[in-house]
Amino acid sequence: MKLNKKLILLASAATLAFSAVSLPTYADDKSYTVTDEKYLDADTYKGFKLFRNWCARCHAKYGMGNDDGGLGSNLLESVKTISKEEFFSTVENGKAGQIGSMPAWKANAKVMEDRELIYSYLQARSDGAIGNIKPKKAK
Ligand code: HEC
Repeated sequence: MKLNKKLILLASAATLAFSAVSLPTYADDKSYTVTDEKYLDADTYKGFKLFRNWCARCHAKYGMGNDDGGLGSNLLESVKTISKEEFFSTVENGKAGQIGSMPAWKANAKVMEDRELIYSYLQARSDGAIGNIKPKKAK
């Protein structure tokens, strides 16, 4: 009986240690920082600006696409439903699908070089870290 209790304690300690180790890995996965619900770190803000310049005319002002009057898909959904590789491959090569035509961006160096930053912005939107609002650049 005593030994069993010890084993259970050991097992829970191991589980706790495991989650403590795996949590930061998940956090590291997020490449954005949002402060006061409206300030984006400089890189993610750059991603927002690129999004606004090149993507917003079809994917709506802040990424919600046809759920916010745009022609393209809701990219807040896409970052959850498709892999990052698939996302970037669509950005690079375009896609003619059910909704309409997504242009290829491989000839646009600005978009291609900083596509990770656009993705970070959309992740922040998708996670609800930043709302359907015009973000500001953190000082
Ligand atoms: C001319 C309009 C237009 C512009 C500009 C545009 N897109 Fe699209 N995009 C679309 C359409 C329409 C679709 C949906 C294609 C389909 O029917 O599946 C789409 C789909 C996508 C998808 C695939 C979504 C999914 O869930 O499969 C990604 C990723 C994407 N766009 C990213 C971007 C990014 C990033 C930019 C800016 C660099 C951008 N798009 C600019 C029209 C556009």
